[in-house]
Amino acid sequence: MTPHDFQISPERLPELLCAMPKAELHMHIEGSLEPELIFALAQRNGVTLPYASVEDLRQAYAFTNLQSFLDIYYAGASVLLKEQDFYDMAWAYLERAAADNVVRTEMFFDPQTHTARGVDVKVVIDGLHRACVDAEARLGVSAALILCFLRHLSEEEAFETLEQALPYRDKFIGVGLDSSEVGHPPEKFAKVFARCRELGLHLVAHAGEEGPPAYVWSALDVLKVERVDHGVQSAKDPALMARLAKDRIPLTVCPLSNLKLCVFPDLKAHNLKTLLDAGLVATVNSDDPAYFGGYMNENFLQTFAATGLTAQHAWQLAANSFEGSFIDDAAKARYMGRLNETFARFAA
Ligand code: ADE
Ligand code: ZN
Repeated sequence: MTPHDFQISPERLPELLCAMPKAELHMHIEGSLEPELIFALAQRNGVTLPYASVEDLRQAYAFTNLQSFLDIYYAGASVLLKEQDFYDMAWAYLERAAADNVVRTEMFFDPQTHTARGVDVKVVIDGLHRACVDAEARLGVSAALILCFLRHLSEEEAFETLEQALPYRDKFIGVGLDSSEVGHPPEKFAKVFARCRELGLHLVAHAGEEGPPAYVWSALDVLKVERVDHGVQSAKDPALMARLAKDRIPLTVCPLSNLKLCVFPDLKAHNLKTLLDAGLVATVNSDDPAYFGGYMNENFLQTFAATGLTAQHAWQLAANSFEGSFIDDAAKARYMGRLNETFARFAA
């Protein structure tokens, strides 16, 4: 069944966007820390924050670019010390994901943000992984972890992080690359990604968020990533667009993030429709939902309202999210069946 078989009235589109099953492929679990939880954990752990109140902290969420956000994001993560803290953070996100009909999520985590404060990587991974296991059993959400290297640090430090995490290899499915993009091109991490590839880990990297198309090319050709996180700057390079379409490389696009970090002046100017109409495997994701004004469904609702995307695009985005996920083909087919059932219900 294809979406062309469905006639869905535009008035029902928002309801459909919320109801359809979807996968989230780009979210940083530390970016799901709501101000209320930051303050609760600060109190629990005796950590002093440079903000007087929840309102004071929220006031600081006026970003001008990626770096202005990262400075606050790393400060927020400083309250995470114990295994239970990591569990509580992940559980709060997973409950919200379930409410948005996210049936599969592949969550990034930044171990170096925590090991730099003396937290053992085992504490980080155990807490997050326990929440993933509970999500499957209690929420029906399939959840997995992707370890990200911080690109503003050295490749040597990335290797050290990999070594520290390898005893827990069974608790994460892949590696990614995040943090400050411009000035830290993918090729800086060529050797550590080659090693991760040998280890059979899935490979992704942030590229083309603020950085140039050249960074997307090197994420593909040097790091050999299977997905590109963001990648919206690819639209500036027709040859790159053709390559991404031909090789069906998913782009994990984050519209509200792009809006809040001033990658586009407003959502109307976002290029998601251009990417989809060029045949790219683009997906919608929340990135750092506690900081950017919304979780998955809010990203879908606001982007569709601003750009005039249709039910056909909604189906494509959900289908792309399953195609781009690191689940097996049988699971993909099951989720596609659920997606088509939802569309059939709305067309009736
Ligand atoms: N870390 C958390 N969110 C990020 C983003 N949008 N880009 C790069 N690094 C990040
Ligand atoms: Zn991101």
